[in-house]
Amino acid sequence: MIPFNAPAIVGTELEYMQSAMGSGKLCGDGGFTRRCQQWMENKFGSKKVLLTPSCTASLEMAAMLIDIQPGDEVIMPSYTFVSTANAFVLRGATIVFVDIRPDTLNIDENLIEAAITDKTRAIVPVHYAGVSCEMEVIMALAEKYKLMVVEDAAQGIMSTYKGKALGTIGHIGCFSFHETKNYTAGGEGGATLINDPTLVERAEIIREKGTNRSQFFRGQVDKYTWRDIGSSYLMADLQAAYLWAQLEAAKRINDRRLRLWQNYDDALQPVAARGRISLPSMPPDCQHNAHMFYIKLRDNDDRTALIDWLKEAEILAVFHYIPLHLSPAGRRFGRFHGTDRYTQAESERLLRLPLFYNLSDNNQQTVINSLLSYFS
Ligand SMILES: Cc1ncc(COP(=O)(O)O)c(C=O)c1O
Repeated sequence: MIPFNAPAIVGTELEYMQSAMGSGKLCGDGGFTRRCQQWMENKFGSKKVLLTPSCTASLEMAAMLIDIQPGDEVIMPSYTFVSTANAFVLRGATIVFVDIRPDTLNIDENLIEAAITDKTRAIVPVHYAGVSCEMEVIMALAEKYKLMVVEDAAQGIMSTYKGKALGTIGHIGCFSFHETKNYTAGGEGGATLINDPTLVERAEIIREKGTNRSQFFRGQVDKYTWRDIGSSYLMADLQAAYLWAQLEAAKRINDRRLRLWQNYDDALQPVAARGRISLPSMPPDCQHNAHMFYIKLRDNDDRTALIDWLKEAEILAVFHYIPLHLSPAGRRFGRFHGTDRYTQAESERLLRLPLFYNLSDNNQQTVINSLLSYFS
């Protein structure tokens, strides 16, 4: 069976995890956590990076940090993972869904302004497949209406927009290190990027159960106390050790993924040229990270037929995101602004192909051959 995904393994993970075990400190904010955070701060140019247990936790931290209150409205696409919305619903917000662009499947930046009301507090762009949203337009709207921008860059680490790393353009950015992502912290993990320096102190407090324990550990205060709301949003250092192995190999992983992505694109161009499928398109200012290779079929039936065809050949291909506004909780906690021209229609014809660091050339060729025979 060729799986849809396998967590990346580069070979040094065990050695670093053993080293973490030998250090006598396995909880959060140990040596490997510091290394990972500093590496990301330097590489991406964020004011402060904090490792968390998941991107879900990072989004929850972000919602607390920008002080979302009951009745506030938060604008985001409906074509996203539940955590993008849940984090804000947990604070009492109403979600306002805006349609996506058919080319990138990202929120349509030209539809956002009409969805802004007196209650709007934040915009949450989701960089689908590691391809950037139109951040210049979104940041200009945020400036004009005094809104906060939280980038859901769960899939966007190592991608850029006009040369800037995704996750560092909004006031706050959130990465995922879940095993389905390009880099993993041993299965689950995330990072919160605090790009607005005025938010750093409170971010550390929220992450440390609402206390100023981080300042205490740095010797800045002589005892720590309960200061604010918060939760336990630290990643165990054992997991950070696994992640460190992957960040050290970040370029190698990125290059390999880009190669695999390009192989699919090259092989399927003729099928797309016949109009049989659509392939991902890259806006000129976006450098992507090959997080995902998807194709768009004619419709749901065509997609189901291809999934079955691949399954016969022992290949797993999957789709995702039932649009949130069509789900029971989405109806309860949100509303769709304007017309759903693309969200549902595009979500019903998208199929993701196997793409992971340790996918062999041979296995990828098997997938390509099977696809080509289906389309012939
Ligand atoms: C767009 C998006 N946001 C948030 C998440 C949540 O990430 P995590 O599993 O690290 O909590 C995911 C995970 O798939 C995602 O794709």
